Amino acid sequence: MPAIEQTFIMIKPDAVRDRKTGQIIDRIERSGLTIEKMEKCVLDEETVKVHYAHLADKPFFPSLVAFMTSGPVVKMVVSGLSAVSKMRTLMGATNPLDAAPGTIRGDFAVDVNANVIHGSDSLENAAIEIERFFG
Ligand code: TYD
Repeated sequence: MPAIEQTFIMIKPDAVRDRKTGQIIDRIERSGLTIEKMEKCVLDEETVKVHYAHLADKPFFPSLVAFMTSGPVVKMVVSGLSAVSKMRTLMGATNPLDAAPGTIRGDFAVDVNANVIHGSDSLENAAIEIERFFG
């Protein structure tokens, strides 16, 4: 049985800079999910390093941290039936070149280094990320 879940979503600096925030929020709401909390803010380096700790040994890590702190993000708590997997489907593949047309990354991004949106990849991580970003 699908359950009501909460997931952590973040519109990344590239999309905020390009004024895509409204269109992305529209897609989330049209899918039947609810935005419970939302705040525009600039992330500090330490928060980004903790958030992406699983990628710390990757060659792209320094540029990922620089990108994620390069301007404001819009962070959200999104809720609804199977919200975690529903948002991952709505977002599309991590690499926009693999993301299907009609997904947020498929339609708004071309570069894996600037892929427009973050969404928690499991219910467990959603709880951790909501605590990290909204405390
Ligand atoms: P990851 O946690 O693997 O994917 P997702 O965001 O879909 O959960 O990667 C985190 C972010 O790291 C990803 O959204 C963009 C960035 N990234 C790169 O910049 N280059 C890469 O080659 C990969 C795999 C990810």
